[in-house]
Amino acid sequence: MKQLFFTVLLIFSISMSAQKFEGLAKTPPMGWNSWNKFACNVDEKLIRETADAMASSGMKDAGYEYIVIDDCWQVSRDENGNIVPDPERFPSGMKALADYIHSKGLKFGLYSCAGSKTCEGRPGGRGHEYQDARAYAAWGVDYLKYDFCNTDAQKAEGSYKVMRDALFAAKRPIVFSICEWGTTEPWTWAKNVGHLWRTTSDIMNCWDCKVNWGGMGWTLVMDKNEPLGKYAGSGGWNDPDMLQVGNGVLTDVESRSHFTMWAMMAAPLITGNDIRSMTPAIKEILTNKEIIALNQDSLGKQGYRWWTLDGNIELWIKSLSNGEIALCFFNRSGEVKNIDIDWKKYFGKLDGKSQGITDKTIIRDLWLKKNIGTTGKNMKATIQAHDVLTIKLSK
Ligand code: GLA
Repeated sequence: MKQLFFTVLLIFSISMSAQKFEGLAKTPPMGWNSWNKFACNVDEKLIRETADAMASSGMKDAGYEYIVIDDCWQVSRDENGNIVPDPERFPSGMKALADYIHSKGLKFGLYSCAGSKTCEGRPGGRGHEYQDARAYAAWGVDYLKYDFCNTDAQKAEGSYKVMRDALFAAKRPIVFSICEWGTTEPWTWAKNVGHLWRTTSDIMNCWDCKVNWGGMGWTLVMDKNEPLGKYAGSGGWNDPDMLQVGNGVLTDVESRSHFTMWAMMAAPLITGNDIRSMTPAIKEILTNKEIIALNQDSLGKQGYRWWTLDGNIELWIKSLSNGEIALCFFNRSGEVKNIDIDWKKYFGKLDGKSQGITDKTIIRDLWLKKNIGTTGKNMKATIQAHDVLTIKLSK
C-alpha cells in the first residue's frame, strides 16, 4: 500500500514537473520585439521609452502587452554561471526594467537560445537552463523567446522540453516562444512544450524578397505558414515571425495587407518597428481594433486561403465565434482589380456549408469600419494592387 502511494506520488510529481504553463496565450500573444528594427542596438532607455509609447500611443489599449528584448542584452556569465546583462546598456538591471514595464500595466519578455551561444554569439542557455529560468523568474520575466543557434548535435524537441521544465520548476508563469524556424516541424510536437512556435526562417523587410540563408519577405512567409492551420489553437500558435509593419520599406497599403494576413492567420501580433515615432498611417494600421478582433477571436481558428479568383485575388476565410465569418480578398497582383461577388453563387462554398448566411447577412468592411450592405446583392469593389478588402459577415 505504502509502495503504491509512493509510486503514485512519484508519477504525479514527474508529470507535474513536465508541463508548460497552461492558461497563457489563450489568444495569440500581442506585443513588441526589438529585433526587426534595432537588432543588437538595445538598451534600457529604448525599452523604457518603448513601454512609455506603448502605453501612451493607444497600442496598449488595442491589446499589445509584451515588451520583448531580443538578442544582445546579455554579455557573459559570472563565476557562478549566472547570466550577466550588459552593464553598460542595462545599468539598472533587468529587475528594475521589468518593474518599470509592469508599472505601465505591460509585460516583460527576454530572448535566449537553446545552444551554447545565441545567434549573435552571446552566452546561450545550454547547461544553464534551470539557473537561467530561476533568474528570469526572479527578475519578473513574463515571456521567453528561445532560439536555436549553436546547438551542435542537440535535438530541438528535447532541448525545448528541458527549458519548458526549467521554467515550470521556477514557478513564474512565462509564455514560452519556440524559435527553431520550423526546421523540425514543431507544430507536430510543440503543443505541450510552448505557447507559440516559429514556422519559418526570419521575415525580411520586403514584399517577397529572398536571402541566401533563408530569410524571406512576408508574402513568402505567409505561404509557408498557411497550410499549418490545423495545428493552431488556444494556448499554442503557429508563429510566422514578427511584423515588419512600419519599418519603412513596405508601402502603407502593403503594411495593411501584411497586418491583415497576420490577423487572419491567428498569428502572434508582435510589432517590430519603432513605436516611439510611428506615422499616423502606421499607428492606424497597428491599432485597428476590428482587425485585431479577428486575430483575438475566442474560437482561435487560423484562417486559410480558400480559393483564388481571377488568378491573382486570393480569398481567405476565418471562422469566428458567434457564427461570424471573416473574409479577406487579397490582391496579390501589381494591378488594380475589380471584383463582383454573387453571394448566392458562393454561399454553398463557404466552408462547405451556408454557415447560416442568408440574403440579410450583414457585410462590414473592417478597414472602412462601416457596414457596406448585405449579401442579398452582389458586392462590387475595386481593390488596389497589393491591397486587401477585409469584411466580416454577421447575422
Ligand atoms: C534568429 C531569430 C531572429 C532573432 C535573431 C537574433 O535569427 O530567428 O528572430 O531572434 O536570431 O539573433
